[in-house]
Amino acid sequence: MRAHDYPTPTIEECTVVDHYFANRLAPTDSVLERVLAANQAAGMPPHDVAPVQGKFLAVMVQITQAKRVLEIGTLGGYSTICMARALSEGGHITTIDNNADFALVAAQNFELAGVTERIEQRVGTALEVLATLQGPFDLIFIDADKPNNPAYLDAVLKLSRVGTTIIGDNVVRGGAVSNPNSADPNVLGVQRFLQKLATNPNLNSTALQTVGEKGWDGFSLTVVNALP
Ligand code: DHB
Ligand code: MG
Repeated sequence: MRAHDYPTPTIEECTVVDHYFANRLAPTDSVLERVLAANQAAGMPPHDVAPVQGKFLAVMVQITQAKRVLEIGTLGGYSTICMARALSEGGHITTIDNNADFALVAAQNFELAGVTERIEQRVGTALEVLATLQGPFDLIFIDADKPNNPAYLDAVLKLSRVGTTIIGDNVVRGGAVSNPNSADPNVLGVQRFLQKLATNPNLNSTALQTVGEKGWDGFSLTVVNALP
């Protein structure tokens, strides 16, 4: 083990820092607060990204100068709104979810945020919808059912160009990702997804842990360097 630069934190200390950053760099607003409340009231699982994570996605949209964004897993559209706000003129997001009830809530949230024109919602099984889409996309955010992550990666590579950025959510799962004996289908999906990222010579990937108000989780980050 390499020497640590700093003492080991508790998750409570990490959450204090998460809020410190969020208050300065990703201040919430009445729209995002109403979106979170609407999603909770609709009975969605509390899987909206944290404010600093939404801001990470927004900054990635701008770094990549993405005009065509693809999201797998809309839920209530919190992350979609974060990314849509960062789009430049003419940019748009295609976002997929299989839950028609949640998609209606997301549509209301997009209206509230004033981003409806930039968003195309597709309701259906993601693998089926992906097969109907025309690429290439500049930035792809995979944030849906984790057992399908390996299949989503295969599908989105067909919708990529050289230079496409692919971000995967929830790749740490409270540390469970590194358990070689896990039988959790979500963990297995993420492990197989990371293995595909690692072994595809056309992809250059990393993964970053995040700690704070969403607990201990993280993102994978990939650039497509070549296509078969
Ligand atoms: C899960 C899914 C998510 O997208 C998330 O952000 C957190 C957890 C899950 O399926 O467990
Ligand atoms: Mg997620």
